[in-house]
Amino acid sequence: MIDKIKELIGEVELFKTNNTDEVEKFRIKFLGKKGEVANFFTQFKNIPNDKKKEFGQLVNQLKNSSLKKVNELLENLKKNSVDTNKLDLSLPGDSYKLGSRHPISIIRNEIIEIFTRLGFTISEGPEIEDDWHVFSALNFPEEHPARDMQDTFFIEKNPDILLRTHTSSVQVRVMDKQQAPIRTISPGRVFRNEAISARAHCIFHQVEGLYIDENVSFADLKQTLFYFAKELFGKDTKLRFRPSFFPFTEPSAEVDISCTLCGGKGCNVCKYTGWLEILGCGMVDPNVLESNNIDNEKYTGFAFGMGIERIAMLKYGIKDLRLFFENDIRFLEQF
Ligand code: PHE
Repeated sequence: MIDKIKELIGEVELFKTNNTDEVEKFRIKFLGKKGEVANFFTQFKNIPNDKKKEFGQLVNQLKNSSLKKVNELLENLKKNSVDTNKLDLSLPGDSYKLGSRHPISIIRNEIIEIFTRLGFTISEGPEIEDDWHVFSALNFPEEHPARDMQDTFFIEKNPDILLRTHTSSVQVRVMDKQQAPIRTISPGRVFRNEAISARAHCIFHQVEGLYIDENVSFADLKQTLFYFAKELFGKDTKLRFRPSFFPFTEPSAEVDISCTLCGGKGCNVCKYTGWLEILGCGMVDPNVLESNNIDNEKYTGFAFGMGIERIAMLKYGIKDLRLFFENDIRFLEQF
């Protein structure tokens, strides 16, 4: 009997489970009304007197270690399981966050879509360019201020290698490779040596357009830009062409749209003029066609260039250009 109790004490010590039912079975086996401990106590009277003390101590030991074990196991189970009383199954689950497109990409894609509907192809050129493609082939006189260190990032003190200041350089790349007729747009990144502020950045994006064919006129340019502006800003959008100057177009114009916020009545976005400037354009200067080996007796063309950030700011009502480059998730997730 003594040996049997010692054996059971060993069994209790080794017992392990993390299942509630197993703990309950264990408790009944040792501490239940008809369990081992109760059973030994009923036999107490049959134990010879000289063994009673040792027997009593061992049964008490079995009882205490069984109790301790049950408490330990229950404690463990509680720690490892979720408290179902505090679990609110009606709470919404954690959703996976889908990424969203950058506003610059959204607007660029919209612009591309509108012009591809008109039959324009997409072309690209390098961001690191040479003087010829950015300036000389585009009829910039040698001493033109845009070549000045103020505006242009030059690379390694070699004044011939620079970061393109506009996507007009891609016009030259296309004319290098392709014969007229040409109808293409060129989205891309451009660089200017400007102090960063809410309204200016040293990196921004443009979309260039170039259309060269026989009998292309200023009326074609206007109609193309009318279609574009109405598609992008809505059918009630009005356009205004103001005479301007670019070395590579003649005549040249800057184009305003009626203010997207007040519809032309005047507000603080349009500085109470009713108009917002969105792009530069003009008829391709015959000198540019000649520099690029296109017969300027036979062909004429128009070109335009717009800033994507500027258009995104107008469409979304964004007041600070720097937001586009900071990649703050609180800004980006709104698109
Ligand atoms: N390249 C000019 C700029 O960056 C825009 C432009 C493009 C003007 C094509 C006329 C024609 O300001």
